Amino acid sequence: MLLFEQITELRSYLASKRFKSQIGLVPTMGALHCGHVSLIQAAIAQTDTVVVSIFVNPLQFTPTEDLQKYPRQLQQDLRLCEQLGVEVIFTPTVEEMGIIGDTESQSVTTTVVPPVTMTSGLCGRFRPGHFIGVATIVTKLLQIVQPHRAYFGQKDAQQLAIIRRLVADLNLAVEIVGCPIVREKSGLALSSRNQYLSATEKQQAAVIYRSLQQAARAFKQRENRVEALIDLVKQELATVPPIKIQYVELVDPQTLQPLDRVKEKGLLAVAAYLGSTRLIDNIVLNQH
Ligand code: PAJ
Repeated sequence: MLLFEQITELRSYLASKRFKSQIGLVPTMGALHCGHVSLIQAAIAQTDTVVVSIFVNPLQFTPTEDLQKYPRQLQQDLRLCEQLGVEVIFTPTVEEMGIIGDTESQSVTTTVVPPVTMTSGLCGRFRPGHFIGVATIVTKLLQIVQPHRAYFGQKDAQQLAIIRRLVADLNLAVEIVGCPIVREKSGLALSSRNQYLSATEKQQAAVIYRSLQQAARAFKQRENRVEALIDLVKQELATVPPIKIQYVELVDPQTLQPLDRVKEKGLLAVAAYLGSTRLIDNIVLNQH
């Protein structure tokens, strides 16, 4: 496994590979868990040279968020990637990524601005600037690595929809591959932030997926009114009082625009706090 911190070195290594082999990119912020592993395994199965980037992107943290305490465990991450058979790790510094300022400063690097219609709802409403930071860094990573395929989790459904749109709008020559959400046995979606939860909190957090399943069951039984489906989620979440809902929304999975009724497909998404930990999850309701 090769480790690159410098963009020029990574580029010249990949230049020698590009014409013979398919390059796959898995962008991450490290603190790797089985959710990340599923993306890496998909990349290894479908491409020849897999690049995993590990970069805690300051641009996507709002001033009140956990940038400083975000889990960093590089050695452990490297061991895991090595075991999985990853060929290349890219761990740039903030300077190497050319990031000026952070989300608190005026001169911040945020050239790539997704459509407001896709960032004003769901997490975007509560994390101003977050998706500009994500879109900017993902565009930079795609330009640096120029992979044939890049892998993202459905766990961050709004992020995935925005990245698909950005790749289409900017005619980037990459195939975006969406991967299913990996969960614990309890149903809790894996997340690097689950490290902040105690054992009891983890049990409590499992209600989030139960609440989504409750709505999915009703949808299967032909309930397609958005208000009714959202109420079902809220009722189930209310059975665990420490869970504080930030939002429950049902939107079109591609455009992220709110729906009144789910005709074919709907993205039902939740964000909730448990103590000071913010958790997100979602499920796609699909007629077929
Ligand atoms: P990070 O939170 O590290 O996640 C990296 C990738 O892993 C994302 O595509 C995310 O959706 C996916 N992922 C996380 N938990 C998952 C789970 N339980 N099941 C399946 N996939 C999961 O998302 C980011 O980093 C950043 O925003 C990034 C795209 C790297 C840009 O900085």
